[in-house]
Amino acid sequence: MSNDELFIPPYVEAPEQIRLSPGLLKAAINNTISTWPKSLYETGFYKPPGTRVLLTCDEGAIEQMLLREADRFPQSNLTLRILSPVWRGGLAAQSGHAWRWQRRAMAPAFTPAAVEPVIAPAVRSARKLAVRMQDDGVPVDVFAAAADAVTDVVFDTFLGAASAEGRKRFNAAGIELTRQMGKLNPADIFNLPNWTRPSLGMTARGPADDLHALVAELLTDETLADKQSGQLHLLRMLASAVDPETGTAMNPVRLRENIVGALAAGRETTALALAWTLWLVARHRPTRERLALEAAALPAEEELTAETLRSAPFSLQVIREAMRLYPPAPQIARTAAEAVNLAGHELRKGDQVVIAAYALHRREDYCPIRTPSIRTAFQQSDTMHGLPACVTCRSAAGRASTSAWPSRLWKCRRCS
Ligand code: HEM
Repeated sequence: MSNDELFIPPYVEAPEQIRLSPGLLKAAINNTISTWPKSLYETGFYKPPGTRVLLTCDEGAIEQMLLREADRFPQSNLTLRILSPVWRGGLAAQSGHAWRWQRRAMAPAFTPAAVEPVIAPAVRSARKLAVRMQDDGVPVDVFAAAADAVTDVVFDTFLGAASAEGRKRFNAAGIELTRQMGKLNPADIFNLPNWTRPSLGMTARGPADDLHALVAELLTDETLADKQSGQLHLLRMLASAVDPETGTAMNPVRLRENIVGALAAGRETTALALAWTLWLVARHRPTRERLALEAAALPAEEELTAETLRSAPFSLQVIREAMRLYPPAPQIARTAAEAVNLAGHELRKGDQVVIAAYALHRREDYCPIRTPSIRTAFQQSDTMHGLPACVTCRSAAGRASTSAWPSRLWKCRRCS
């Protein structure tokens, strides 16, 4: 382990060329990033041979898909089917009207102001995590510990005082979900019919069913009516969500589906972001020292608010930089709804376009540092590129992230 000023975080070495082989399929299943060639990082585009997929990390193409022509690039049908065991009829597994009304209805629950009550349980959970990690000499699985911490927060926020047993069951299902969803199903790689998925790979249906059963047990009328619990206001916001345009209201089944979906979507992503951040700072003393100084200047734990957290800009920068280096969602897919020219590339209706976020974050021409030293990166991470983030969901980014996509907006200091 190095504490040197200059530290090169590990990265996936892009191959010069991709050759068709059985090994390639194995690599695509286990770590798809390792099948992205150098040319993708350099030109912004790559079309894997024999597929109807276009990979891109080109700024213009991404802007066209997520902003200017979002209606021509709806959520990919492969993503929808991958997510549907978890989300069922909920937001992220829907498209068209079924997606739009839920998105509009739930938008108020995902604004920075609405999520502020998460701070108190997050601080409690972070304290527990810190104690667990202080146990000198005992190795800690940082991802598992971070995932436990995240689980506590989501439980406290969405489901209230669940028993230790409930949390244990949730975590067990979450671990299995992460294991199964971490590998691509060959049926999705080759765009085979949905019914081939169970025989060719994992579908995550088992752990997803467990999550639905557990949340159905916990999401009782009493939980929803528990006005004593100020923390559950996010749950109540979701339960009473109504689409302002059509008047469509959340119903109990959709509510459960969206809570299971949010628990699943938030658990692994946030735990990965946390785990990588901790891993990186553990290897870089100057960053640790600066973080400690910043933390020491913050008010007492119980007085932390969104406002006071704004006075910890370096901490935020470190987390963002960790997410640039290791994006928890390293790729995002869309489908061409019609024949369309995407930044000079002709697509047929039904072609898949994959935004290669991992490559985007490492493009030399967008980011001054491709495989940067942690020192330089932390100092410069405000120059970093990312996707247009839709933090409150009202922006034209349409379906882009509701949450913590590690970007500012669209221009780095160099380009603006
Ligand atoms: C570091 C943490 C996170 C990262 C990096 C992340 C990343 C993303 C990304 C990239 C998408 C867009 C997928 C697409 O458009 O195809 C997305 C969607 C979504 N995320 Fe997250 N996420 C994180 C945490 C969370 C949390 C904590 C929640 C909720 C508790 C959440 C809920 C959602 C939902 C509901 C969607 C679907 C939005 C839609 O389809 O309109 N995410 N996330």
